[in-house]
Amino acid sequence: MRSHIRPLIAAFAAATMLLIRPALLRAEVINITPCPMEISVSAGNFTLTDGMRIGCPALPDSMRAEAQRFATTIYRATGLTLSVTERRSGADFLLLRDSTLGREAYRLSITPRRVTLRASTATGLFYALQTVKKLLPPGVMMGLRDPYEHRYVLPALEISDAPRFAYRGFMLDVSRHFFPVSEVKRMLDIMAAYNMNAFHWHLTDDQGWRAEIAKYPRLTTVGATAADAWMNSWVREYRLGRPYGPFFYTRAEMEDVVSYARERHITVIPEIDMPGHFQAAMAAYPEYSCTPAEKHEVWTDFGISTDVLNVASPAAVNFARDILTEIAAIFPSEYIHIGGDECPLNAWQANAECRAMVEREHMKSFRELQSRFIALMAEHLRGLGRKIVVWNEAITAPDADMSVIRSTGATVFCWYPAVEGLRKAASNGLDCVFTPWGPYYINRRQSKAANEPIGAGNGSDNLKAVYAVNPIPRDMSAADAARVKGVQATFWSEHVSDNNTLEYLALPRLMAVAEAGWSPEEKRDFRDFTRRMSEDRRMWDMGHYNYGRHFLK
Ligand code: ACM
Repeated sequence: MRSHIRPLIAAFAAATMLLIRPALLRAEVINITPCPMEISVSAGNFTLTDGMRIGCPALPDSMRAEAQRFATTIYRATGLTLSVTERRSGADFLLLRDSTLGREAYRLSITPRRVTLRASTATGLFYALQTVKKLLPPGVMMGLRDPYEHRYVLPALEISDAPRFAYRGFMLDVSRHFFPVSEVKRMLDIMAAYNMNAFHWHLTDDQGWRAEIAKYPRLTTVGATAADAWMNSWVREYRLGRPYGPFFYTRAEMEDVVSYARERHITVIPEIDMPGHFQAAMAAYPEYSCTPAEKHEVWTDFGISTDVLNVASPAAVNFARDILTEIAAIFPSEYIHIGGDECPLNAWQANAECRAMVEREHMKSFRELQSRFIALMAEHLRGLGRKIVVWNEAITAPDADMSVIRSTGATVFCWYPAVEGLRKAASNGLDCVFTPWGPYYINRRQSKAANEPIGAGNGSDNLKAVYAVNPIPRDMSAADAARVKGVQATFWSEHVSDNNTLEYLALPRLMAVAEAGWSPEEKRDFRDFTRRMSEDRRMWDMGHYNYGRHFLK
């Protein structure tokens, strides 16, 4: 009896598999991160072939340029030639302007006959085309030819997509350790692959000044070299034993990064951290410090330096203004970050000019010197047509002058205490970005294992913890929530001195933040995210990215 039943069961199972397999297969091939707002998959495929046409009827040049870049990438990665035309008829890819869609939104419809993309701007179209690339073999996103791939097939589907948040950022600290333009561009590439749109470039800190400023050459002839430095080689930290530097970006290099980012619809937001975290600048121009007669050096250690700008000196304030003027000329971003975090009061308390100003202005605390300084920088940036960004200490430090900061209209980057920062910013009518210390500080250790790179944290800030972050406190009012402009993955480099470790720590935690920034909360699912990340490994491998394997198959 048994021997008769077995083949029957097997036949039944095979028939069932045949029936359900096409549906399963289609579900399996859908690998889009960040997860789109709405997606529905149907039967059939669209196959790319040589000579296909991309119709761009009545599209502005900016949108046509996206079509051309897409065709170039497809050619590089597949050898297939796609031609960009004005004509609608006979188009295999049809690109349409739909002014009802939001700036970054798009619609994508794939049928066996045609791929139709709709967007209102070049940015929306860019994201639509990125999604098409994600549906093709992994070499396509990397713009690399895979000699083993010969079929380029898209599943039939409909997608309606738009980001949850306007700001989806990544910050890189290039002061504590320097990363060359080539590595910055690799990070911009991977950001663009996951729809991130803001690169916050932490260009200056106590340990090194990395931005060439023509008016103040000593910032880089002196400030870009530390006499010694802590270096890292995975599990070992050691003193270099010789000068570290000079490491900085020339103006031409910064402009090159800006245009590279722009092509990927990423805005570069430069940060010149002041008046604290300013020791490298004080080494270069001690006359603007609180102790001009003393020797100042680029810091060779870590922590919070007390060697800050003398904010009561008109000449020192002009020095800061001049730097921001040049920075604004290099970076077209609407927003300029002036730091404002972790500024100790000791040097001001001991300085005659600062004490006199506190007395003259009837300030209740030396902290008000900082509030006033931020207001001066905000006013200066406003005159240059820009808006100011600060870290949350500007509003959460004891005795910060809230009415002064409120009047600046600053955007507040909330890191610690992050939720309190969000609440305080939003309830005071200030925009804010959520980058909580811990999970969104993606330089931190992601495992307790002994063979992990040394660094900050106890290993609990892993991929799952990053993914679990909810950027909007559940009890926040809708009005306050609307002030939360987005999320940011932040990378500090005290304990990271090479590209390989940077990528290992940043990837794929960066993608977890990207998904929080783009996808609707109800679409987020850690299991499905790790499935998609496990598949994306092929793409990262092709691009020779290093990445953490935790949670991945
Ligand atoms: C910071 O982590 N000091 C912004």
